[in-house]
Amino acid sequence: MDNRPIGIFDSGLGGLTVVKEVTKQLPNEEIIYFGDTARFPYGPRNTSEIRGFVFEIIDYLLYNNVKFIVIACNSASAAALEMAQQYYDIPIIGVIEPGARAAVQATRCRRVGVIGTQATISSGSYPGAIKSIDAGVKVNPLACPDLADFVERNELTGPRVEKAVKWYLEPLMRAGIDSLILGCTHYPLLSETISSVVGKDIKLISSAEETAHELKEFLTRKDSLREDELTPAFKLVSSGDENTFRKLGAKFLGQQIESVERVSLPLKERVE
Ligand code: DGL
Repeated sequence: MDNRPIGIFDSGLGGLTVVKEVTKQLPNEEIIYFGDTARFPYGPRNTSEIRGFVFEIIDYLLYNNVKFIVIACNSASAAALEMAQQYYDIPIIGVIEPGARAAVQATRCRRVGVIGTQATISSGSYPGAIKSIDAGVKVNPLACPDLADFVERNELTGPRVEKAVKWYLEPLMRAGIDSLILGCTHYPLLSETISSVVGKDIKLISSAEETAHELKEFLTRKDSLREDELTPAFKLVSSGDENTFRKLGAKFLGQQIESVERVSLPLKERVE
């Protein structure tokens, strides 16, 4: 038994899609979520800059006494998961391996598309993860540089986002895929628009559910589930504007957000 909270973070609000799944599968757990909205987006940034942010956020979460960390951001997982796992003693998981596993299980024709930020796609992390599970699966990765921006400004449907989705996904639809990994934690909010463009025959894969499942297994096997009588809760922390976070975050989370704590950057000053 371990009653400490779980730390989950993203470059912005997208990771709340993972929080939503975690609260479904692990309703008794307490969660601290950090959204780095002041430095959003991570996608166009280089690996060493993203690594710096990730280490800073992990130090902040550890200072808040978390027992487990989920990097609920594909760009951050691609740039820093391996290094963070080597550096820290605490267990850390990302969202890429769970998404890759779900896609391998879903595809029938063994041809999978992946969309994500520039940082995620140029890292080659998804093809690597998929091929380590089934080397025979063909992977078509595609960077969609400004797609997460539509989500972060709450433009989830309408002609502009539809036009952008169509423009990006055209080559993937010609490639004969039957499964498409939403390789950015912001994209599940665009599912309706993406589905209307790619059609019902292409299955959309979000890693949120699979990541929550992996977290549950980990905590169960390590005998680290929370077992006290306290009302479970989540604490939401943002490096940017609290009001925007509260309003838009409710869509990601699927429920009202009462309060958001704003912390100023650099986080380093808050852990010393
Ligand atoms: N949520 C981030 C991810 O999963 C994407 C947004 C960004 O560019 O920071 O990659």
